[in-house]
Amino acid sequence: MVKKLFLIFCMAAFTSLFAFPREVELVKPYGQDIYLTKFAAVVINLSDSGATKVFAKVGEKKRIERTIPAGRSYFCFTVELREGVNKITIELYRGDEKIFKAVRTVYRGSLIDKKFKYSTKFFKKQFFHTPEKERVCASCHNMKMNEKKGVAFENITESNCFGCHYPVATDKFLHAPAANWLCATSCHTGKVGRFNKKDEEESKYLYPDPIASNCFSCHKKFKERFYREKYRHEPVDNGRCNRCHDPHGSNISNMFLRKKVWSLCITCHADKKRRGHVVRTFSGKPHPTKGVKDPTSKKGEELSCISCHNPHVSNNGYMLKGYVGSGTMLWCKRCHKK
Ligand code: HEC
Ligand code: HEC
Ligand code: HEC
Ligand code: HEC
Ligand code: HEC
Ligand code: HEC
Ligand code: HEC
Repeated sequence: MVKKLFLIFCMAAFTSLFAFPREVELVKPYGQDIYLTKFAAVVINLSDSGATKVFAKVGEKKRIERTIPAGRSYFCFTVELREGVNKITIELYRGDEKIFKAVRTVYRGSLIDKKFKYSTKFFKKQFFHTPEKERVCASCHNMKMNEKKGVAFENITESNCFGCHYPVATDKFLHAPAANWLCATSCHTGKVGRFNKKDEEESKYLYPDPIASNCFSCHKKFKERFYREKYRHEPVDNGRCNRCHDPHGSNISNMFLRKKVWSLCITCHADKKRRGHVVRTFSGKPHPTKGVKDPTSKKGEELSCISCHNPHVSNNGYMLKGYVGSGTMLWCKRCHKK
């Protein structure tokens, strides 16, 4: 009897612990996170604070204001990060009264710019899609994967990924699998590659790094060339297609390049920025690599690195384009007719 009473007492104490007004909590970002995409989710557990407004500041300048609908226990929105360190400040107001403030520092890294190197002592990859972390969200969000491989949604908002990740596919030029929200079946398969073995099982939606074999599964003609031609550009040979291409899409390139071609190449080949190559012209100036028309372009495009080089593979040394037999001077005739 005493035992039973004690048990009831314990249970009462236990439940009262939870009946107690819980604290407001900034659930995401966790802090010290590394992002490789430009969007970060902000998730606030409002508890029963009655908050009416939220202010978010990213860095020193960008300020976001959102009104919180009445009766919400969680509030979620998205902020955009700049490459490098981002300090995110979140403030909650109930009417005019500030009731909560939290600051998180995160890092947006880059797959291509070496200058965005982060300290791995301070920043770390923190994956979200584990059953344990997803549980908190499941009361409001459907956390199940609901795609069928190769079958486009009639309406992309039907994808369970869409509600949380929609900003990812809002660029001007969208890559087909991303535009159709076939995320988990075409790329984020949860599989890892030789460069991200250590992340295995950390998230349901990892993609293999290197990604090439995945790209090849749809780009069959590309795959043939990749294995057929004699020389491969190093980042291509490594299978890291996503260093130059953003697999979701791009605002500047219908080839989904992360930067315009010339800048893209210069990011890794900085020495080609000022010092030209190929030949010195008679005036001693280096050969132009931009700012003039490309004689080989039917659409009248500007000369750039890929007027002369193939970005991926080639049968010619230096990955030169348009082989004409033998001898450099002959090759020059692609553009210099005389
Ligand atoms: C109490 C319900 C609730 C819970 C719990 C919840 N959310 Fe939300 N979330 C919403 C609603 C509702 C929206 C739609 C936008 C709105 O109406 O504010 C949303 C939208 C979002 C968005 C899109 C934000 C945008 O830019 O519009 C993200 C990302 C998100 N939630 C992530 C999460 C994550 C991660 C968790 C768990 C850690 C979570 N949410 C838990 C209710 C919830
Ligand atoms: C409840 C909101 C929510 C839903 C639904 C959701 N995600 Fe996420 N996802 C997140 C958040 C939050 C992150 C962490 C990044 C961030 O903070 O913006 C994330 C991260 C990821 C990552 C990076 C790896 C990781 O685990 O952190 C991938 C890939 C991803 N999501 C794919 C998907 C796919 C595919 C679906 C649909 C099957 C999906 N997500 C559904 C909220 C969501
Ligand atoms: C699920 C299939 C699928 C996968 C996986 C895939 N792609 Fe695509 N990709 C497409 C389709 C479909 C198009 C549009 C093709 C077209 O219009 O000819 C496309 C178009 C492109 C284009 C634009 C140029 C063109 O040929 O139209 C580029 C660049 C591209 N993909 C690169 C990649 C890269 C890099 C990867 C790996 C990160 C990849 N793709 C993975 C299906 C896929
Ligand atoms: C060094 C940067 C770089 C890397 C790495 C790279 N690409 Fe590209 N890719 C480009 C550029 C630049 C173009 C645009 C070519 C053009 O406009 O003629 C392009 C175009 C493409 C196209 C469309 C035109 C074509 O040649 O078929 C596909 C498909 C493509 N890339 C797939 C891939 C795949 C798959 C990988 C990985 C195996 C990859 N790329 C790696 C720079 C790169
Ligand atoms: C992600 C970094 C990266 C990007 C972006 C990049 N390259 Fe390279 N490239 C390399 C590396 C690494 C090598 C091999 C080492 C070296 O020669 O510097 C290389 C080598 C080359 C070579 C010499 C190949 C040979 O046979 O010796 C050429 C030509 C070249 N790149 C052209 C380009 C062009 C054109 C672009 C833009 C479309 C580009 N690269 C973009 C990393 C990059
Ligand atoms: C007019 C044609 C042409 C243009 C434009 C051009 N290249 Fe080259 N590139 C060549 C030729 C020819 C070679 C072979 C040897 C040489 O003369 O240096 C070469 C060699 C290279 C090499 C390997 C040897 C070295 O000097 O490091 C790299 C890397 C390279 N180019 C990158 C680039 C980049 C990056 C751009 C754009 C900024 C570019 N090229 C624009 C014709 C061109
Ligand atoms: C993809 C096209 C292309 C290729 C290939 C090319 N060039 Fe050029 N070249 C140009 C363009 C465009 C200009 C600037 C416009 C002009 O003066 O015709 C230029 C300018 C020059 C100039 C300066 C001319 C002047 O009047 O100042 C010289 C010299 C030159 N190229 C030599 C070469 C040599 C040598 C090769 C072979 C190694 C070569 N080019 C390959 C496109 C090309």
